[in-house]
Parts: sequence; C-alpha cells; structure tokens
Amino acid sequence: MKILALMGSPRKEGNTDILVDTVLSGAKANGHQGDKLYLYDLNLLPCIDCRNCKNGDKICTRDDDMRDIYPTIEGADVILFGTPLYWYGPSGPMKLLMDRLLPYSETGMLKGKRAVLVIPSAEGADACGPVVAMFRLSLDYLGVDIAEVLLPTAYEKGEVKKNRMEMEKAFRIGASL
Ligand SMILES: Cc1cc2nc3c(=O)[nH]c(=O)nc-3n(C[C@H](O)[C@H](O)[C@H](O)COP(=O)(O)O)c2cc1C
Repeated sequence: MKILALMGSPRKEGNTDILVDTVLSGAKANGHQGDKLYLYDLNLLPCIDCRNCKNGDKICTRDDDMRDIYPTIEGADVILFGTPLYWYGPSGPMKLLMDRLLPYSETGMLKGKRAVLVIPSAEGADACGPVVAMFRLSLDYLGVDIAEVLLPTAYEKGEVKKNRMEMEKAFRIGASL
C-alpha cells in the first residue's frame, strides 16, 4: 500500500513533521510504502475558479508543481494531511492544496481512497472542530474516507516528541493502515 504524506507546516522537524514521520514509520514497519511532500517547498498557485476542471477538459489550467503532484496523489492508497492548526483552520499551503483538489469532484479519481489527518495545535483537540469538519466534508464530497484523526496538543517546535502517548498513537495509526 502506498501512503502519500502532505506536510503542511513550514517547520521542518516541528510537531506536524515529527508526527507525520512517526505515522510513516508505523506504516513502513508494516511493509507499506510512504512518501512525504513538504508543501512549503513547492510552488502552489491558488485555484482561480476558471471552471476548466468542470466544463473544459477536466484538467487544472494552473501551471505549477501540482502538475507533478496530481499523479502522485492519484497513485496513493492513503493520503495523509498534516497541518498545524492556524486560526482554527489549516495552514495556507494546505488550504491552497485542498482547493486544487476540485478537478477530482468531476473525475471522481479519489473515490475509495482513505485519508489520515494529523493536526497539532496549542489548544488541543477541542479547538479542532472546524478544521476537522472542513476536511471531513470536503473529503466526503470527493469520496475519500477519513480513516484516522490525530489532534495532539503541542506549541513549541518539536514539543510533541515529549508526549509519549501521542507519539505511540501516531505509530499505531501508521501500523494499522
Ligand atoms: C499563524 C498561526 C496561527 C495559529 N493558530 C492557532 C490556533 O488557532 N489555535 C491553536 O491552538 N494553535 C494555533 N497556532 C499554534 C500552532 O498550531 C502550534 O504551535 C503547532 O504545534 C505548530 O505545529 P508545527 O510545529 O508543525 O508547525 C498557530 C500558530 C501560528 C503560527
């Protein structure tokens, strides 16, 4: 099974990155294949609602790194969305990527895939209702089932490492996929 992790924090080796790596370690320990993309390293343009993906040839007209990412997403069995909580939503690049999934509402190419959400925040799980709802409703629309959700409390860079329970949970999530 192939897992594609979309890492939506600017902090390499920060909380999201550590948790994403731990989920991938669990998955790899179970013989699965995992890849990670740093969204902040990519050139991602915003969706401009040109409707080409709806009324035209169903292909996104924006010329950026999504051209390479679309086939990678399509080739994955599980998509891991990792983002810190930014003002009760995802980080900017993660929202931008979500908007760019619009072609799949027409082609249905994501139907049957599974997703994992990894969202650390200072306030913890109770503050993550809106962001989880956003992912749940959007992915539901695309026919993607959310298999696991991890919402640990962490603020300082790398702080989540000290939280053994959440680290073990992340590994278990990966291993269970
Ligand atoms: C712009 C910005 C907005 C944030 N908004 C929230 C928020 O609304 N609620 C919260 O609990 N934490 C918020 N945080 C804290 C981060 O979610 C938290 O530090 C997280 O652990 C960072 O993950 P990272 O290390 O992967 O970047 C915010 C941080 C930034 C930089």
